[in-house]
Amino acid sequence: MVTSFRWRLVSLIIVIVLGLITCMYAQMATSPPADQKTGFDPASQPIPANDQRIHDQVGFDPAAGDSYHETVIAVPFDAMMKSDVDAKAAVMQRQQQLLQERYDLSDRPSKDVMMSGKRKAVQTGVRVKLPQGVTWAQLADMDSDQIRDKGLWPKGFLPLPHVKQATGGQVFPNQQIDSIQKFENRSLRRFDVDFDLPEHLTPEFPPPVFLQSRPDLGDFSRGQHITLKNYYALSNGILTPVQIEGLRLLLTPFPQEEFNETEDRKVADPSMGVACLDCHVNFHTNAAFHLNPDVRPQTARLRLDTTSLRGLFNQQVHGSKRSLRSVEDFTEFEQPTAYFNGDHVSAARKGIGRPLRETSQVTMMAQMQNMIDFPPAPKLTVLMRLDPRKATEKELLGEKVFRGKGQCMQCHSGPAFMDDKLHDLKVERFYKPQVINGQYIHAEGPIKTFTLRGIKDSPPYLHDGRCLTLDDTVEFFNLVLELKLTQEEKEALVAYMLQL
Ligand code: HEC
Ligand code: HEC
Repeated sequence: MVTSFRWRLVSLIIVIVLGLITCMYAQMATSPPADQKTGFDPASQPIPANDQRIHDQVGFDPAAGDSYHETVIAVPFDAMMKSDVDAKAAVMQRQQQLLQERYDLSDRPSKDVMMSGKRKAVQTGVRVKLPQGVTWAQLADMDSDQIRDKGLWPKGFLPLPHVKQATGGQVFPNQQIDSIQKFENRSLRRFDVDFDLPEHLTPEFPPPVFLQSRPDLGDFSRGQHITLKNYYALSNGILTPVQIEGLRLLLTPFPQEEFNETEDRKVADPSMGVACLDCHVNFHTNAAFHLNPDVRPQTARLRLDTTSLRGLFNQQVHGSKRSLRSVEDFTEFEQPTAYFNGDHVSAARKGIGRPLRETSQVTMMAQMQNMIDFPPAPKLTVLMRLDPRKATEKELLGEKVFRGKGQCMQCHSGPAFMDDKLHDLKVERFYKPQVINGQYIHAEGPIKTFTLRGIKDSPPYLHDGRCLTLDDTVEFFNLVLELKLTQEEKEALVAYMLQL
């Protein structure tokens, strides 16, 4: 009797509790939106078309335009091409003026230091021009506020704009364009812009290729530009079938934003597209450039100089900002997002011919990329120290500064002289936000530490290529890290980096 009463009481309580819970849910589902409770309606808050804070700083609306590329083509191809062609001379002249203002672009090759293929000399000397009336030593004695307020930051150390920021896109150097035209009859020439830097300030073309699987071979490419025409003859008997197929895919053009069949392209004839190794020629770089995918709006995007693919097997972070964690991810991702536009929406319009993971295409492409080694560095020991029996006094001093006063080792450590981290160098301490040739110059935030192995082979330097020589990078870090290096220490650092 007592048990049955207790049981009924428990059931009643359960029913009441369940009822209450149901009521609460119903209440929540039909509850008025937050604004009726709080008086705040987020949807009614206007989103300003431009950011007033930025507008006040630079007198310009960098937020004009949205995140997407145009997917509806408003202007017919012929009309667009004509207006682009008409505008080209002025566009290129403006860029040349900017480069002249910033840099000494003259041809000053080293008499004894060649790039790894021994076909092109390394360029010497500091090329960034100083503002009038100051020396490098005087600048190094000022603090960042003084440099910024007096407008003394050398212009060459500001972010480098794309030749045509508003359009952006891939721009190839003439050597690459001519060579692909010759071997594959494919045009990489845009009608709206040209490559801007003089040839002597770009890497050796074609660069040598060093296989980590066959160091005994020397240059795998035998001095040739690897294309779809010769890759098989070069590979058979040296690479595995998996690697050969990876190489073929890396040489296969895929349509993308400026090189495709649709009417928003920037090449005269419909194009089969661009191959990975059109920029990473022979797995290195030809200094082709683009805008980075990670920043919006268009005006605020950063110029990107093509990175080398040498030594990828020892790198764990890929892309200067995106921090992709595997070569596979990087390989899979570029094509479906229109190569560096971070835009999967407009990319799909050019055809979905992307390499697939399911068929192991991506894996094979990645495995091939991971076979590429840095060029030999005969003066380095197994522990990546200079061998005192082979190195000069100057180079040894450079190593000492690199590991000591210069603090370079803090970030450029390990076998690839990089820490697989991104660092914010806070370069904006030295300059005010401004707009230059349509690029909104702003704080850039963290950037990946790049490797210094084989570094003499890959000018220009930094993510956007703003430093033309290694001497420039030393002046840059001397100011950014506030090192106060002597002239002798600076020269020694350059001599050291030429041996890495
Ligand atoms: C327009 C020229 C261009 C083309 C085409 C191109 N790349 Fe790149 N690649 C670059 C640039 C520029 C970067 C540097 C990206 C960054 O800093 O965010 C880069 C970076 C990379 C990296 C990361 C290197 C690192 O820093 O760790 C990999 C891997 C890579 N590319 C592979 C590929 C593959 C695979 C393809 C073809 C699917 C390809 N690239 C096509 C220009 C190009
Ligand atoms: C706080 C970390 C840090 C320190 C310290 C540092 N670097 Fe770097 N280094 C970087 C980062 C990050 C980049 C890429 C910056 C960019 O692209 O804007 C870089 C880029 C470079 C490059 C260009 C690499 C390329 O492929 O373009 C050179 C050369 C270089 N550093 C040399 C030095 C020297 C010499 C020192 C010491 C005087 C030094 N770095 C100290 C983080 C560092």
